[in-house]
Amino acid sequence: MSAKINNHFGRTAAKYTASESHARGADLTTLLERLPLCQTDIVVDIATGTGHTALAVAPCVARVVGVDSVSAMIREARILARDRGIANVTWVRSDAASTGLASASFDVVTCRRAAHHFADVTAFLAESRRLLRRGGTLGIVDQIPPENGAAAELTEGMEKLHDPSHGCALPASEWARIVEAAEFETRFSHVIEDRVSLEQFVSTARDPAVARSQVDRQLDRATSSVLNDIGFVVCENRVRSFIKRRLVLVARRR
Ligand SMILES: C[S@@+](CC[C@H](N)C(=O)[O-])C[C@H]1O[C@@H](n2cnc3c(N)ncnc32)[C@H](O)[C@@H]1O
Repeated sequence: MSAKINNHFGRTAAKYTASESHARGADLTTLLERLPLCQTDIVVDIATGTGHTALAVAPCVARVVGVDSVSAMIREARILARDRGIANVTWVRSDAASTGLASASFDVVTCRRAAHHFADVTAFLAESRRLLRRGGTLGIVDQIPPENGAAAELTEGMEKLHDPSHGCALPASEWARIVEAAEFETRFSHVIEDRVSLEQFVSTARDPAVARSQVDRQLDRATSSVLNDIGFVVCENRVRSFIKRRLVLVARRR
């Protein structure tokens, strides 16, 4: 497991439990609306974090397995499940690219707000395909950079300052390509926009004040067309917020 991922999520696990955006974001509502869940389904939630997606899916299905590589996150997920009285979820510490779970044993694979951390997204897609029965459903949510290269470079740079475990977010066009290449058929694809204040954005950094000044320096260097592309709002000569985009993608295993 990557030390950066272990350090970041080991340190911030409780923040993810408490995060309103993680617990109730519009991306989660959309994913739940678009997944064809039924009461007999067995679901695996990859990179489950503190379990917000697994616990939201659990009442709609027979059983959920939440997988994450960081034990501090799984510990938080167990507490959240107990507090909410949800008993049909089990937790496994494992890697997204190689879970060790049985082949073709799931009806649905979910993975929300995590793929940008993975060292190899293609390996994660291959693992998801292996875990699903034929005709099963893959539901992914992940942040996406703009398709425009300069704007993407800026948002990716900012993401790395806010979260040192950030790997690489893929644009929507690349997701469409790799999901099809992994032998899934896309059934639903939708981008959700969220306005995020910079103050909130840097709050999970190890030192929010340092992260904020580094982000400000990156923003100072950006052209106005790049800033417009990302929906930045400037007030009193200081950027206050920007638009974060997330892709919700639902695909069927061929
Ligand atoms: C933002 S959290 C996930 C949020 C969660 N899915 C939800 O809906 O609230 C990202 C998670 O990805 C996990 N993660 C990162 N790389 C991973 C990998 N290669 N295998 C498994 N989990 C991984 C981290 O440990 C962290 O818990």
